[in-house]
Amino acid sequence: MDAADMGRDLSNVLISEDELQTKIKELAGQIDADYAGKDLLIVGVLKGAVMIMADLARALHIPVQMDWMAVSSYGAGTKSSGVVRVLKDLDTDIANRHVLVVEDIIDSGLTLSWLLNNLQSRNPASAEICALLRKPDAVKVPIDVKYVGFDIPSEFVIGYGLDYAERYRNLPFIGTLAPHVYGGE
Ligand code: XMP
Ligand code: MG
Repeated sequence: MDAADMGRDLSNVLISEDELQTKIKELAGQIDADYAGKDLLIVGVLKGAVMIMADLARALHIPVQMDWMAVSSYGAGTKSSGVVRVLKDLDTDIANRHVLVVEDIIDSGLTLSWLLNNLQSRNPASAEICALLRKPDAVKVPIDVKYVGFDIPSEFVIGYGLDYAERYRNLPFIGTLAPHVYGGE
């Protein structure tokens, strides 16, 4: 799927496919250096982190294991509540392991802050976060994100794993939606 396939539904491309891929190689370079000689488990947060996990894992030169978690923080509303439910837990015992959580986007930061606390209670050797995107509100929660791809404005974005009503995850870029898609004019 690309911009042409979206027609009038696309408002604009915020981060192009090239920019994404360049940034991911840069992040992979830092992770390669930081975890050289260590045994690393990368944990993707379903479903949004599928694309960044797939590209980041292939851009790394160090060998890694991959696992997945699915969490839900929204209940009925559209804002993070901070109350997180684990829908799918790790298959891996992370005690004494180096863990890097890979996430698509940090908005309020509540989801990741809960997740990091949860993982830390399992006594990993280390637990860090890599987020492709970060919105300005994330600064309100004292959460240490070791790797960030892009700081973006506080607007709803889609593509490259991110969805609106489960659609547009398979775009190779990050974009914004035209208002009519949300039921606006
Ligand atoms: P918090 O607020 O807890 O939430 O940091 C992070 C989660 O919120 C979702 N999210 C978005 N999903 N476009 C999306 O498709 C967005 O612009 C957006 N902002 C937040 C996402 O699931 C993320 O994991
Ligand atoms: Mg997510």
